[in-house]
Amino acid sequence: MVFISYNQLSKLEKAALTEAENTLKNAYVPYSHFNVAACLYTADGQLIAGANCENASYGLVTCAERSAIVRANAMGIRKFMGMAIITKGDSFDTTEPTAPCGSCRQMLFELSQLSNCDLKITMSNTKKDKIMIASISELLPYAFGPKDLNIDINRYQN
Ligand code: THU
Repeated sequence: MVFISYNQLSKLEKAALTEAENTLKNAYVPYSHFNVAACLYTADGQLIAGANCENASYGLVTCAERSAIVRANAMGIRKFMGMAIITKGDSFDTTEPTAPCGSCRQMLFELSQLSNCDLKITMSNTKKDKIMIASISELLPYAFGPKDLNIDINRYQN
């Protein structure tokens, strides 16, 4: 894990972070009031964003990261380089970057297997003046995945 300044981000990481920032306004957060947006990016610059989506039945919350992943799945895009994540409270700016929850890490790991890439996760506070970068293998070491089940996911790779 490293801290990095905004200017040190690659063009793709900046584009993904901007797309995530623009998606923050679509977070549906009447309960937590905590807005999260995430954006996947491909090597050729395709951006697929998601926002968290809550429910009166609290346990049904869908995190921003997973919302981006299932959206990408429905579009048939499963090969990514990384994801940018940004957060904002309804009434406060986050001062620290927010890392994905355990469930999202597990789904990001599956996507890393499909992508043949140790996905790079860029995590930013609201003002983009504190940014952290870690790979999914750092965030979820010794992960359980398709290989443990002797499953070949090759035919889903696109
Ligand atoms: N949340 C995410 O969207 N991503 C995470 O990885 C952590 C938590 C959302 C879920 C819920 O809507 C709010 O943040 C508070 O937990």
